[in-house]
Formats: sequence, C-alpha cells, structure tokens
Amino acid sequence: MSVNNVDFDEKLKKDGFLNFEIDSSLDLFEEINKLKKEKNAIILAHYYQDPDIQDIADFIGDSLGLAQKAAATDADIIVFAGVHFMAETAKILNPGKKVLLPDLNAGCSLSDSCPPDLFKLFVEQHPDHLVISYINCSSGIKALSDIICTSSNAKKIVDSLPIDTKIIFAPDKNLGAYINKQTGRNMLLWNGSCMVHEIFSMEIITKLKNRHPDALFIAHPECEEKVLELADFIGSTTELLKFTNTNDAQTFIVGTEAGILHQMQLLTPTKTFIAAPPDNACACNNCPHMKLNTLEKLYLCMNYELPEISMDETLRLQAKKPIDRMLALSKQFGLV
Ligand code: 13P
Ligand code: SF4
Repeated sequence: MSVNNVDFDEKLKKDGFLNFEIDSSLDLFEEINKLKKEKNAIILAHYYQDPDIQDIADFIGDSLGLAQKAAATDADIIVFAGVHFMAETAKILNPGKKVLLPDLNAGCSLSDSCPPDLFKLFVEQHPDHLVISYINCSSGIKALSDIICTSSNAKKIVDSLPIDTKIIFAPDKNLGAYINKQTGRNMLLWNGSCMVHEIFSMEIITKLKNRHPDALFIAHPECEEKVLELADFIGSTTELLKFTNTNDAQTFIVGTEAGILHQMQLLTPTKTFIAAPPDNACACNNCPHMKLNTLEKLYLCMNYELPEISMDETLRLQAKKPIDRMLALSKQFGLV
C-alpha cells in the first residue's frame, strides 16, 4: 500500500502501519518537521528511542520529564515516541488533545507484569496500605494507586511519608527493593520486573570492569540488586546522563537500555560509553517495545493522525489523581 494512494480504512486503525510503504525519495526529517508546524504538534521522545527519533524530537527525557512536559504543552497534538503507558499518561493529562503513538503495540513488560484485576485483589487484601505505583503501569493500575512515582522521584516521594506508613509498591520489585534499602522501609512489593534491566550479567560486567579499570559502572534502579551492588552510581536515565556529563571519569559502562548512549555521546563526545552487555549474545539491552517506533511510523502517524490513544473518562479521572499528586510533589521537591 502506498502512502500517496491510501485506501484509508479501519484496517489501518486495527493493524497500524504494517503494510504501508513510503516513497524512499522523501526526506523524512523535512517531512516530519513540516507536519509538526502545520499541525501544531509536539514530539516527545524517551531516551530509549532510536537516535533518529531522538534527533527529531522537540523534547527528550525520562518518564518524569516527559510527563511534566506533556502536562505543560500547548500543542494541539502530542506525538509520543515512547511506549503505551507513557502516551496514556499524556492522554490522562490532556483529554482535549490528540495523543498519538507511532506503534500501538509498543507495550512494556514491566507494565504487563501487573494486571489490574490481580492487583485489585492484592490491594483489597491490604486495606491499611497506601499504594505507590511506578509510572510504568497501565491506567488500570494507576486508577488503583494513591501516588505515582518515577525512578527520578521515588525515593523523595517515599521519604516524604511518615515512617510508619504501610506501603504497597508496584509493579517493579527491583526498584521497590532499591527504594526499601535507600529509605529503610519495608514496602510490600509487587513481583514485577523489566525484561531489559533483568538481562544484565554480573559476570560480564565484572569482566568488563577488570578490562577497563578506570571505567565507572552506572545503572538504572530497575536492574537486579546483585547488579546494582556493582554500580558506582545508580539513577534514572536523566540522572545517569547528568552523571556522565559532570563526573570526571572518561569511560562509563552503562547499565540501562542502550538508546541512552546516543544522548551521552552527544553531550560529551570525548568520553567513551560501553553498553553493559546482556547475559547472552542477543541485543536484549535494546527494549523491543521502545524500538517498535521507527522514523517511518512517526511520519505516517503524524500524517494520518493515527493511531490515537483513547480512554474511558471515568478511568481517566481515577488515574489522573495519583499522577497529579506526583506532579505536585515533584514541584515541591524542586524536580522540574
Ligand atoms: P526512567 O525514564 O524513569 O529513567 O525509566 C526508564 C524506563 O524504563 C522507561 O521505560
Ligand atoms: Fe518497559 Fe523495560 Fe522497555 Fe522500559 S525498558 S519500556 S520498563 S520493558
């Protein structure tokens, strides 16, 4: 099916841009920039996106930065180059705007590890617990939560609560365990995890550290505890990026999704960044969900204003409350 001769029907809504071809002579950067202006659209991209998508985005950030940007934009269309829960968060905050996701199948293994029906039962079994959920979850989980957090603000949010508060933390058991350790709490953890951050191998990282004795190993808190124990610095993607910019070290072994290396290299081109390898020969340090978005799909999605995120209004209002709490607390903490 050619883009210039489109039989635009329900199939596109259902299957996405599977069978679309793009005229190879088109300069997609130019076309996307044109569409941005024509449609008053903003492209928000996570650090885990392909370098091309990062390069054309209006804003690149971590989950907190992206949610804050989505809450503040006056664009008519938000094009979310990220995964479904991120685009959904943008829609929750902007019911009147069109929110597009280049590939609706861009999900998240961590979000999938926490189905709302099971989580509801778990919450009901602990009625005296406050529910803090990591933003990497569906709107159904957000609607069951009291406060949303991200890896940038989780510690501060937990620290802001009285020490005797009983807390359920979902869905990431690794981030939850890390925050428990950092805050001296004993939060009840949902047994979820991210397939990308659980793939790193302690043994290979140790070998790499031996081979590069001056390198610092930096890691995202979604990694397992045994990997985090090896880390010289732990932080969200934005925090990792800032660290590589401000720290004197010249070489960094990076324990998170490999897309972040693009911004690290752009920020400090003279430094060396080594993507921490997975425990086998695969490219599993690339998130298969994030990488479903391509420049081609981004162009098609902006051209046809599809696929669009839609949401039941009752669910949206329930899911918005804990996100609003997170945004207000982050402002209070100076995380803007
Ligand atoms: P942050 O964006 O909070 O660093 O989290 C990384 C992540 O896994 C997003 O899916
Ligand atoms: Fe989800 Fe992990 Fe991919 Fe982030 S990197 S979107 S947490 S699967």
